[in-house]
Amino acid sequence: MQPPLSQDALKAQVAQAALAYVRPDTILGVGTGSTVNKFIDALAASGIRLRGAVSSSDATTARLQAAGIAVLPADQVQALEWYIDGADEIDGQGCMIKGGGAALTREKIVADLAAKFLCIADASKRVQVLGTFPLPVEVIPMASANIIRRFARLGGQASVRLNPQGHPLVTDNGQHIVDVRGLRITAPLALEDEVSAWPGVVTVGIFAHHRASVCLLGAPHGVQTLR
Ligand code: 5RP
Repeated sequence: MQPPLSQDALKAQVAQAALAYVRPDTILGVGTGSTVNKFIDALAASGIRLRGAVSSSDATTARLQAAGIAVLPADQVQALEWYIDGADEIDGQGCMIKGGGAALTREKIVADLAAKFLCIADASKRVQVLGTFPLPVEVIPMASANIIRRFARLGGQASVRLNPQGHPLVTDNGQHIVDVRGLRITAPLALEDEVSAWPGVVTVGIFAHHRASVCLLGAPHGVQTLR
């Protein structure tokens, strides 16, 4: 019997499968994270030539450029056909929790430019109800204590994400991340709207307005496509 594929191998599998969605000579929106890193590596090895990419983080920009892929400023691109990114959780409607890599704000900005969102993830990310993964929220630091109290009133336990040195993690946008545990997100659209309206919230990591159009899930028996 073959040993089960590791999570890493499942990510590599979906990264490879995502190449089928990349059209040569187009501009592609590119997300952030370990699955996307594998996708960038697969893209570089594929020989597919893009006009360029719009990147969702400094880390992705560096990896794209190292692979010889031109990175175009988001504000100089009017529209994209595809945005390709991973997820921390995805439900049956394609709604996601994102932001485990703290890149949620730029991810949502680039996703908004795109007609379609291709989610690439290993099968462990598929859930019935969002909320087991702590919900990331990018916040303006002076608002974080009040935002934490607001989540407590919704039954969530929120805390500021720390970096390895024990200081608040600072995002590419110079802001902080609050991670919220204990939420059962049965109405993702409504919660996205509610939290987005709180003063000091930059971006909430619920992607319901920008849900996945297609999701490639890496599973032990091959890649599953969810639409
Ligand atoms: C980064 C994200 C990532 O897409 C998410 O954390 C999944 O990452 P990985 O592919 O490493 O599992 O939202 O902000």
